[in-house]
Amino acid sequence: MQLSIQSLAAIAIDLQSGLSQRDRFQRLINSLRQLLSCDAAALLRFEGQQFTPLAIDGLTQDVLGRRFALGDHPRLEAIARAGNVVRFPATSDLPDPYDGLIPDHGSLKVHACIGLPLFAEQDLIGALTFDSLNPMQFDRFSNEELRLIGVLAAGALNNALLLEMLEQQSFTPLTTTSANSTGAPEEMIGLSPLMQQLKREINIVAASDLNVLITGETGVGKELVTRAIHQKSSRASKPLVYLNCAALPESVAESELFGHVKGAFTGAIQHRIGKFELADNGTLFLDEIGELSLSLQAKLLRVIQYGDLQRVGDDHNKRVNVRILAATNSDLKQAVVDGLFRADLYHRLSVFPIVVPPLRERVSDIALLAGFFCERCRIKLGLSQLTLPPATLARLEHYAWPGNIRELEHAVYRAAILARATQNSTELELLPAHFNLQAESLPDTVNTALPETIIQADLATMTQHFQRNVIYKTLAECDMNWAAAARRLHIDSGNLHRLAKRLGLK
Ligand SMILES: Nc1ncnc2c1ncn2[C@@H]1O[C@H](COP(=O)(O)OP(=O)(O)OP(=O)(O)O)[C@@H](O)[C@H]1O
Ligand SMILES: [Mg+2]
Repeated sequence: MQLSIQSLAAIAIDLQSGLSQRDRFQRLINSLRQLLSCDAAALLRFEGQQFTPLAIDGLTQDVLGRRFALGDHPRLEAIARAGNVVRFPATSDLPDPYDGLIPDHGSLKVHACIGLPLFAEQDLIGALTFDSLNPMQFDRFSNEELRLIGVLAAGALNNALLLEMLEQQSFTPLTTTSANSTGAPEEMIGLSPLMQQLKREINIVAASDLNVLITGETGVGKELVTRAIHQKSSRASKPLVYLNCAALPESVAESELFGHVKGAFTGAIQHRIGKFELADNGTLFLDEIGELSLSLQAKLLRVIQYGDLQRVGDDHNKRVNVRILAATNSDLKQAVVDGLFRADLYHRLSVFPIVVPPLRERVSDIALLAGFFCERCRIKLGLSQLTLPPATLARLEHYAWPGNIRELEHAVYRAAILARATQNSTELELLPAHFNLQAESLPDTVNTALPETIIQADLATMTQHFQRNVIYKTLAECDMNWAAAARRLHIDSGNLHRLAKRLGLK
């Protein structure tokens, strides 16, 4: 027996300590890596046919954001199918999910690898993986010893999952799981304190039936938050109906919201149900609520206050039971002050305001999100590995991300395409140079105020500086889509291109 009773007992005692769940798992993984003196150790949870890393040691931080689908990872699949300790021979040609993810070893391949499936009764709930660059590393440990470790970890993981289920049960109808239209689970990646706070707020507000106003900069995940609230609410089995208020021409807006009867206006050749009725007993998501005209705001307020509506051209009232989740990236409070948004509607909607923080305020999530998008991108491009060396992660963490998570997602995809074009391999490394962040770099918040050095310049220079910033900000908000930015700036798209070129933005 290589492992002493004392060392195993110490681990068992640690697992009972009063730390947070995450810290407990981290301690477990640190101790196990030491005990087996290997290069990398990970505890993974198995759910919905994928493995989610819960604690890692010896692997790059972005691994915590990666999600390993069973079908995409033959080694993990082998572990999941085995009822027992799996030892992969050093000569195994199955790709290891951690190849290239052990820092300071560059693209060096993992040599020895063992996996322990973790069970609760008959169900697979997770796995432990240990990797070593030394091919003989695990030879001296017997299967019995390793199984013992597996049993300890499985017990701890199962307890944690049971607790989590109990906590969730108090709010969540058990029949629903969060899934998007493709059926894949839609997860909010992030472990930063701000993200944990946000997840707590989502749980609290989801359980209530209050209307919620979700604010935050462009690309921070407001839509994701909205879907999470709906999915965790008692209305989860009913529809979540989406309406983008910015894309609503005034002429059809009322009919979109409330429906119309046949003959209500020219072209109304048949009855039509509006979004409110479609969302009856469910949730109505009013995206970009700040763009709603004052007259529609008044009509919306009426439905919220009295719960009844009239289809256009109909004198009869219809009762509806709809929960409203509204989102905006504009400052609605300021809009109220400016007389562009009704104060009474604002107060009705913002009973429980949720603010989604910008990415630059949760820097520790950047590595996880980058890992998450890398893994997705790897699958999409059919690559065997896609890694983020430390220099790249550092660069990503020092960038302000004015377009937030959407910008990061696109940046990773762009970088991968670039890397693929320059590195002739299916194992790609994303280098800082693949991210064109310098050109897109911005001060922390886009500053339309003039810096000291510019104030002393002539009017033309000051104007150009202002134009550059406004165009850049608008572009970032429009997801770097020039046509959309041109529309928002009320300028012909050809003119915007010419202006941008003249200002050195292109
Ligand atoms: N925590 C997260 N984890 C994983 N993906 C995320 C997360 N937050 C946002 N995303 C992804 O980033 C993209 C942008 O998110 P979303 O559309 O929800 O932003 P938004 O706040 O509604 O932006 P906008 O104001 O421009 O409408 C989406 O692809 C979304 O899936
Ligand atoms: Mg959105």
